[in-house]
Amino acid sequence: MAAVRSDSAGKAKRKDVATVLRLGVLVSGGGTNLQAIINKINDGTLEGCEIVTVVSSRPGVYALERARDNGIPSACISKKGFHAIEDYNRALLEHFQKAEVDLVVLAGYLSMLGEDFVKAYKDKIINIHPSLIPSFCGRGYYGIIPHQKALEYGVKVTGATVHFVDFEYDTGPIILQKAVKVLDDDTPESLQLRVMQEAEWELLPEAIRLFSQGKLKLDGRKVIRG
Ligand code: GRF
Repeated sequence: MAAVRSDSAGKAKRKDVATVLRLGVLVSGGGTNLQAIINKINDGTLEGCEIVTVVSSRPGVYALERARDNGIPSACISKKGFHAIEDYNRALLEHFQKAEVDLVVLAGYLSMLGEDFVKAYKDKIINIHPSLIPSFCGRGYYGIIPHQKALEYGVKVTGATVHFVDFEYDTGPIILQKAVKVLDDDTPESLQLRVMQEAEWELLPEAIRLFSQGKLKLDGRKVIRG
């Protein structure tokens, strides 16, 4: 098996406006957040932004189909395709650099990025997490788990957070957060869906828009909206 499987059959759509920000999106699953970004590019909200590569950590995920359907070059770069983690990290970084990515967007990406990658894209990697950080986050809090834990704890509000990525899980400076009410009859699945619909699909494109317009300034841990 080739370590990096690319599908560049479709050409990314050419834009009338000059591209100001080249996005590289990392995915591992269904790709509804990827779709939210695509929709906001198509409706003009993310004017000047272009997704130049979608990379999945897993083969066969629906996010890759969304990329193909929209003519976006995509690839699967899986740890399983490499003998050493260093080789995987290097391949991932080389892929993003070759694609001349300006902003890395983790949209449901389940792996940890290597240190070299985070250093190379310092303050240029953002992640969406389905809870109000610092609650229900960190290692092991992925997929349905943050929602299960929120319900078990009995919180009345949860939500989503977009943050810059540093060397740990979910610890980087917070860019945007939005609260979502927990209902008495929520199941982890119903809560997960509402957090996506009411928060995630809005927050992630909005963070990209703010970044693309140079409106995010870092002051230590604080992100100041300029
Ligand atoms: C989202 O809940 C995201 O916050 C989390 O993983 C999920 C991915 O969903 N990090 P999708 O692949 O974007 O549909």
